Amino acid sequence: MSATVAVSTRGIVKDFESGDATARVLHGIDLDLRAGELTMLVGPSGCGKTTLLSIITGILTPTAGTVNVYGVDLGSLRGQDKVAFRRARLGFIFQQYNLLPALTAAENAALPLVAAGLTLKDAVPRAAEVLRRMDMGAHLDKTPSHLSGGQQQRVAIARALVHGPQLVVCDEPTAALDAHTGLTVMETLREIALDPGRAVLVVTHDSRIFRYADRIVRMSDGRIESDQLNGETHHETTPPAAHWHAAARRRAAGVRDSLLDGASHA
Ligand SMILES: Nc1ncnc2c1ncn2[C@@H]1O[C@H](COP(=O)(O)OP(=O)(O)OP(=O)(O)O)[C@@H](O)[C@H]1O
Ligand SMILES: [Mg+2]
Repeated sequence: MSATVAVSTRGIVKDFESGDATARVLHGIDLDLRAGELTMLVGPSGCGKTTLLSIITGILTPTAGTVNVYGVDLGSLRGQDKVAFRRARLGFIFQQYNLLPALTAAENAALPLVAAGLTLKDAVPRAAEVLRRMDMGAHLDKTPSHLSGGQQQRVAIARALVHGPQLVVCDEPTAALDAHTGLTVMETLREIALDPGRAVLVVTHDSRIFRYADRIVRMSDGRIESDQLNGETHHETTPPAAHWHAAARRRAAGVRDSLLDGASHA
């Protein structure tokens, strides 16, 4: 397992103003995400998980503290530089899917490649390949209003992965999915995190998927409570990630090649 730090936050504080009151939602978060690892962020509703994800992906600006993503200080990026950095390096899946209603599933999933300069004609087959891996082969040409919630979620996940981003961040990726589909999605994320050049961060309440984590970070009231390798915390009930790495690795090469191939055209 690589020890290369992909993302590090230091002293992240976030205050939200409401009326004349200020609520402190994050109280100084120091977090390292390592490349080649799938980190899960868990904690009660309202503890600040989505806020932290939004800061790591540059959507929200922290009140204090720094975020470094693959050697780049997010606070130093301005305007178009920040947009370009996020487009090229990050893939994110938020609690709302934000699909474009006029586009098909495959076209929606292809958007990051189009933003990077590919024609829709070249981008759609790559998106379709990622969708097929998530059992979405029968729904490539449907618009979002003709898809179930779980199917829309898989389109959003495919869109986050299609351009081979170095950092993939997901907020409750399995929330709207049945057990089988949830595990298929986690396997896809798992395979991505086998790449020593890429890191995955997943926020979840879903204990069924904890076994896919290399590392589990627990948050409570805007603070990190613990940050442990999964093998240490879940040894009794679930095998450490390393045990099934070998099996996953066999299939990983193919996925990775197709995703990175997408990125190299971007
Ligand atoms: N834009 C905002 N303005 C004011 N308060 C906010 C804003 N966004 C979030 N909050 C507050 O910050 C706290 C943390 O919210 P956040 O969405 O990060 O929680 P969470 O851990 O993701 O919860 P959940 O598991 O329910 O998604 C909550 O008390 C929330 O009400
Ligand atoms: Mg949230």
